[in-house]
Amino acid sequence: MKKVTVSSLLNMKKDGEKIAALTAYDASFAKLFDEMQIDVLLIGDSLGMVLKGEDSTLGVSIDDVAYHTQCVRNGAQRAFVVADMPFMTYSTPALAYEQAAKLMRSGASMVKLEGGEWLLETIHGLVERSVPVCGHLGLTPQSVNVFGGFKVQGREKDKADALLQSAIQLEQAGIQLLVLECVPASLAKKVSEALTIPVIGIGAGCDTDGQILVMHDMLGISANYMPKFSKNFLIETGDIRKAVQHYIDDVKSAAFPASEHWFE
Ligand code: KIV
Repeated sequence: MKKVTVSSLLNMKKDGEKIAALTAYDASFAKLFDEMQIDVLLIGDSLGMVLKGEDSTLGVSIDDVAYHTQCVRNGAQRAFVVADMPFMTYSTPALAYEQAAKLMRSGASMVKLEGGEWLLETIHGLVERSVPVCGHLGLTPQSVNVFGGFKVQGREKDKADALLQSAIQLEQAGIQLLVLECVPASLAKKVSEALTIPVIGIGAGCDTDGQILVMHDMLGISANYMPKFSKNFLIETGDIRKAVQHYIDDVKSAAFPASEHWFE
């Protein structure tokens, strides 16, 4: 069993092997996903929506994510474990260092932050202090109130150009992974080609270096609604292990996402 690391993720991008990622929040699912050879597990602040039943991610605390990170770490042997920094836990560099330390001590191998240029100093500082960082651009759910809803981002040319620039700046500041959420497939392709680091898409077409889904969406058990970019893999298989295997196989072969799951 070879552990997935930042270096192996980078090599997967170089070799053209797609990265398969899922969110996870507890040890049992983490173990099952890990046994099926998932590459990356994210303790997403989506836990506010899928575990707590809230209508946004804003109510999630660092202690919530730290607790679930410890659960996932206890279940995962091979997968690379990334934990989300919740809303307002990285609003200044000093706060970010302190809060990121809690997630790393709980078992994360990397922390994820939502946003562009305003985060450059924070990212640089975290990396200098030995905290690997994943960026998150496009539809960043912590900004739902600024966007006026969960809307596709980067459709206008100026916004698309700005997003590409932000991605390049984040890479220069030191991120080693980028999540790109709900942007047109053509923009996601451009970003993935422009960066050396792997880009993991969700609602971002099939040309990113990997895919991630919220596990509850992939199993069709989300309490509220199923996003257009997601797919219920359990309905086709009727068995959780088979559904996860099907998801991983479809990501690896680029059969998922299909055009009905992405935005123009
Ligand atoms: O919180 C989360 O689960 C995420 C994924 C949707 C990428 O950020």
